[in-house]
Amino acid sequence: MTRADELVAAAREAALSAYAPYSGFRVGAAVLAEDGTVFTGANVENASYPVSSCAEATAVAHAASQGMRRIIATAVACIDADSIEGAYPCGRCRQILSEFDTEDVYVTTATGEVRTHTLDELLPHGFKL
Ligand code: THU
Repeated sequence: MTRADELVAAAREAALSAYAPYSGFRVGAAVLAEDGTVFTGANVENASYPVSSCAEATAVAHAASQGMRRIIATAVACIDADSIEGAYPCGRCRQILSEFDTEDVYVTTATGEVRTHTLDELLPHGFKL
C-alpha cells in the first residue's frame, strides 16, 4: 500500500464515524504527521449549524493537540459526494491545513477515485504570519 492508499483508507474509515444528521454528508480526514503517526477526524455537526466542525479541522485539532506541528499529507474522503468535484476541502479547511505546512492533499469519494494535489495548488497565496 502506498502512503496515499493508507491515508485514503483511514479517511474513508473515519467518515463512517461522522456526526452529520443535518446534512447527511459524511466526511472523514486523515493527516500524516511528521513522526509518521496518522490522526483521523470526521465532521461533527451541531443543531446551531455554524458551530459544526469539518472533518479536516477535527483531524488537525486531533494531531496538534497531541503535539504534532507538521503535517506531511492529508486525505479527505467525502463518502456521500456525487462526484469528485464535490469532494474538495472547503476554503477554511485549506487554511487550517496550511497552518501545519501540509504538502499533499488526496481527495476522494466513495467510488474509489482519488485526486492528488499539492496544498499550494488548492490554496495559492494562503495567509501566513
Ligand atoms: N465538510 C467537511 O467536513 N469538510 C469540508 O471540507 C467541506 C464540508 C462538512 C461540513 C458539513 O458537516 C458537511 O460537510 C456538509 O457541508
